[in-house]
Amino acid sequence: MSLPALLDPGLIRSRLLRWYDAHARTLAWRVGPGQGALRADPYRVWLSEVMLQQTTVPHATPYFLRFTQAWPRVEDLAAAADGDVMAAWAGLGYYARARNLLACARAVASQHGGVFPDTEEALLQLPGVGAYTAAAVAAIAFDRAANVVDGNVERVISRLYALKDPLPEAKPLLKALAAGLVRADRPGDWAQALMDLGATVCRPKQPLCLICPLAEVCTAKAEGEPQTYPRKLKKLARPKRYGVVFIIRRGSQIALVRRPDKGLLGGMLALPSTDWRSAPWTDADVTPPIAADWVKAGQIEHIFTHFSLSLTVWVAEGQLPDAIWTPSRDLGSLPSVFLKAAQSGLGLNYRRG
Ligand code: ADE
Repeated sequence: MSLPALLDPGLIRSRLLRWYDAHARTLAWRVGPGQGALRADPYRVWLSEVMLQQTTVPHATPYFLRFTQAWPRVEDLAAAADGDVMAAWAGLGYYARARNLLACARAVASQHGGVFPDTEEALLQLPGVGAYTAAAVAAIAFDRAANVVDGNVERVISRLYALKDPLPEAKPLLKALAAGLVRADRPGDWAQALMDLGATVCRPKQPLCLICPLAEVCTAKAEGEPQTYPRKLKKLARPKRYGVVFIIRRGSQIALVRRPDKGLLGGMLALPSTDWRSAPWTDADVTPPIAADWVKAGQIEHIFTHFSLSLTVWVAEGQLPDAIWTPSRDLGSLPSVFLKAAQSGLGLNYRRG
């Protein structure tokens, strides 16, 4: 791996940290610059970083506030019922993260006396804590000189160096370049400054180079097309899958089921459904969970990371043994795909929340 000629780290750091001192976002879990010796709570940092993987700050913030209200300390989360945590996570997606979250909280509570370990290496030993989360918690909560690299940071670095190598192969190189800018001085602020710059100024489609503190040292800006970085290998088209979901009504209540712990949407509440397969379903292929007067009442599309799903929604009155009967106005614990299907089938305009 050969590195491009290094830009001046001292200059980049001083400009970006000065910008952060003036423009840091106020975030629910953040201790901002200039707040003296006040340290961010490791529990809140860890929780926010897990939520922010694959999710934007505006989407994650209400979840963070609800979680910390319900479970203010890691021991509280560790003692929570699985179903309550999965319900509170509904709508954040990537539900394996919620199960890992609980496993990690329980490990911190039972094996570490409720105190998060304070090094990257020890954090990495916790269940569900990967390289990114370990580095972020070590830097932000414990002021360790860890190299915190998420998609925002990759974008900023790829533009600074106008790196032509495409993602994902370029990841190790971007990480090495980012490491060249980390110092023992203010590592938590440094990580958050890079992420804030990526989110608010060095934006994916329309970077705001006019107000960027690094514009003068940015190679991509000098070349004239910063928005074309980071370069990416062409993605293959998402495969398409098809399914039928069943809304079984009993008065104003709907029959929900719990999905098995393993697999997609594992452990979450759901509408009963056929398999999601690569060929569309014909009526003759479908075996509904109960015999009833079924009506085709809706159709939705939903994008998952690895496939897109087209669901037809069938509705009937009936009884389903062992169902979790839930008022149709109270479906906020459903993952988005099923919430959408319920809205489509019932003609509801339900907002989570
Ligand atoms: N995105 C993910 N983690 C973040 C953080 N700590 N600050 C700003 N943006 C982020």
